[in-house]
Amino acid sequence: MAQLWGGRFTKETDQLVYNFNASLSFDQKLYKQDITGSMAHAAMLARQGILTEEEKEAITEGLQGILADIEAGVLEFSPEYEDIHSFVEANLIARKGDVGKKLHTGRSRNDQVALDMKMYVRDEIGEIDSLLKELLTSLLHIMKENLHTYMPGFTHLQKAQPVTVAHHFGAYFEMFKRDRSRMTDIRKRLNLCPLGSGALAGTTYPLDRAYTAELLGFDGPTLNSMDSVADRDYLIELLAALSTVMMHLSRFCEEIIVWNSNEYQFVEIDDGYSTGSSIMPQKKNPDIAELVRGKTGRVYGALMSILTTMKGIPLAYNKDMQEDKEFTFDAIDTVKGCIALFNGMISTMEFKKENMENSAKNGFTNATDAADYLVNHGVPFRDAHGIVGRLVLTCIEKNISLDEMSLEEYQAISPVFEEDIYEAISMKKCVEKRNTIGAPGTDAMREVIAIQEKYLTEN
Ligand code: ARG
Repeated sequence: MAQLWGGRFTKETDQLVYNFNASLSFDQKLYKQDITGSMAHAAMLARQGILTEEEKEAITEGLQGILADIEAGVLEFSPEYEDIHSFVEANLIARKGDVGKKLHTGRSRNDQVALDMKMYVRDEIGEIDSLLKELLTSLLHIMKENLHTYMPGFTHLQKAQPVTVAHHFGAYFEMFKRDRSRMTDIRKRLNLCPLGSGALAGTTYPLDRAYTAELLGFDGPTLNSMDSVADRDYLIELLAALSTVMMHLSRFCEEIIVWNSNEYQFVEIDDGYSTGSSIMPQKKNPDIAELVRGKTGRVYGALMSILTTMKGIPLAYNKDMQEDKEFTFDAIDTVKGCIALFNGMISTMEFKKENMENSAKNGFTNATDAADYLVNHGVPFRDAHGIVGRLVLTCIEKNISLDEMSLEEYQAISPVFEEDIYEAISMKKCVEKRNTIGAPGTDAMREVIAIQEKYLTEN
């Protein structure tokens, strides 16, 4: 045990207590941020005349060496250190002697960990955003290729009106686009630097907090030192946003699982993204989609965990807050993995266009259009609704679709129908007529695709 705080104690910490309290096993993930933050702190201390230039040089060199050795795998995180902050400081002292002991001047682990976590999250937000952008690029590609791939659109999981694959995927494009904008918002709000807040009440040294904030890429220093060490709002926001990403992925996965089933056969997940059964040789399972759906629970769990941890802890720092890390790290890694795998799965997935179109036809998704046909010929909508209802009933009795009914059968139910009814209820017509912005018609879709393309080049 190599603690930073042995001075006022008369007894060694019990080993179980030490293990329970220690966080190095997981906060080692923060080594880069911890070292970068320390370098900025040392630079500022020198600039303010609190350290000499030589002392700053020695500290910086020592920290650079530690960073290089960790990355080269020659410096291991030995469990004798309590946390990443103790680990780095102890190593610095071991390498540079007494000068290393000056690094912690005007700083506490409370503002240090607040800084490390913010910087870590900031980096990860960038990575998640890039992964989301790659996913959006794949979605847009699929949309462009499937402007005329007709499929049933559903409400209540009942076939409702015909749409296209481009339109359906476009819905998810909007969701993931919102997810990206949430990342930008969170980054903006978190980007104030807590360093220099000390344990809770700032410090008596003449620190230049604006300078360290600038060195570390923040928009400025935080404005209340107690809030600085006690704020974990950005983690709650991040985990809420990640939960939303997972909710979107999970809904999409659910649809793909259904579409990939024997009953639907709308898509076929590539062999590379499917798994087999150890007993049933015929099986090809959509395990990846199921796992992404399943892992959603894990990310929601992280959100519930941090919300509960933060509830009812008094100002300022309390050790409860150490519990902010493991689940957050896990949620970030989970989401990154899920986006990447999901992207691979949909990019290699085959669309069974004929099955999709047939399914739209057999589900009477063009029934509204048949009613609209009558309305266009002067029949009041309510009457038209009733007439088409009777048409559907006849089709169900005969086990045929609306376009398979003969004109005589149409006219027997309403004399208003003419030969052009067939064109009016063709899948193509039903979709193409819907050209208000946001609708599945080709013109409307082309306009939206151009907007999304521009968005991807600008963001
Ligand atoms: N490991 C601690 C955490 O993650 C670092 C801060 C410790 N501060 C303290 N006063 N014990 O929150």
